Amino acid sequence: MKEDLSFGTRCVHAGEGPSPEYRAHTTPIYQTSTFLFDSAEQADAVFSGKEPGYRYVRSPPNTPTHAAFIEKMKSLEGGEAGLSFSSGMAAETAVVLSQLKSGDHLISSSVLYGGTYGLFSSLLPKFGIEVSFVNTTDLEEVKAALRPNTKMLFLESPANPTMSVCDIREIARIARDAGAISVVDNTFASPYFQRPLELGADLVVESCTKYIGGHSDLLGGVVVGSRDLIRSMSRPTTLLGVTMGPHEAWLCIRGLKTLHLRMERHAANAMAMAEFLEAHPKVEWVSYPGLSSHPHHDTARKQMSGYSGMLSFELKGGVKAGQRLINGVELCLLSVSLGSTDTLIQHPASMTHAIVPRDMRLKIGITDGLVRISAGIEDAKDIIADLDQALDKV
Ligand SMILES: Cc1ncc(COP(=O)(O)O)c(C=O)c1O
Repeated sequence: MKEDLSFGTRCVHAGEGPSPEYRAHTTPIYQTSTFLFDSAEQADAVFSGKEPGYRYVRSPPNTPTHAAFIEKMKSLEGGEAGLSFSSGMAAETAVVLSQLKSGDHLISSSVLYGGTYGLFSSLLPKFGIEVSFVNTTDLEEVKAALRPNTKMLFLESPANPTMSVCDIREIARIARDAGAISVVDNTFASPYFQRPLELGADLVVESCTKYIGGHSDLLGGVVVGSRDLIRSMSRPTTLLGVTMGPHEAWLCIRGLKTLHLRMERHAANAMAMAEFLEAHPKVEWVSYPGLSSHPHHDTARKQMSGYSGMLSFELKGGVKAGQRLINGVELCLLSVSLGSTDTLIQHPASMTHAIVPRDMRLKIGITDGLVRISAGIEDAKDIIADLDQALDKV
């Protein structure tokens, strides 16, 4: 497939092709755990890497279904190689355990998905890896946190759940100059709105559970980057046993075929909700990178082609008011996760970010009353009418 095709065309066509056996139109699910060999010599050639081929599903390239998924992801992220995982957390675990060792130092965005914060704050130190949580929206803070043993800068942008945005190009440059690699969790933007590798990052991580799959019906993760870095992750990934299942790889392929269409609607609905909430007298503040009131709107405009479907806000009246709103919605659903076709609402301090200590939460802007919304792809007027009637009850 020609790589100069536009993004939506690549969502549909990249990695696709009739299956060699029966010329099936769509990529089949290779629902197997292992592959057969014609001879001991052929098995030896494949296992030793002299010949390409599939071996055992835990080892990349896993199955032809996984390979087709990775071809699509490479095209959409603009990377040379990739690996798929059983979840976004599995992908992050494989990144840090393959790239860091005891004595190394990791600089991470302080605003992060709660699970990632837990991995970095409680598990990595057990392996002798030092971690600094830094306000990565401030380049001077990032530079000041560098140490001689800093080996990785890990960013989440837009960040979960405050929607803060950091300058990926500048931070990738700071990392490169310091001899460290930069890794970006791009889950909130998806490659449709932001491509960190094109901005200079070394690896991009996505939780496929969100926009990539797009329908709240799978768990998965993916990492894309240079051939060398991905090769260095291949063996640790096999040993960690964090492989995506074949059915999930197939669901991701199917989800990606409509990524461009879904993301446009997610973003349009998020913008409509953000504007509605910002104008509402019961709302204290709204954080959506597409609003000109967002403190990092200019950075977002520079590095993103749209602002995606996530927003957070706080009501006047804090926690109690937020709870009344969440209990009052009828169409929006109370659930963690994001990037689904339906609109989800949740309370980070008691749900996705309950793992983050309260003093840390308050320091980084995850206030007790913060409410997070993942805009679905319904008709905007119905979601806004739902928020409106719920706000009347607050
Ligand atoms: C930004 C971000 N990264 C990573 C993850 C982890 O992904 P998973 O739940 O697929 O392990 C999440 C989960 O919500 C997330 O929001």
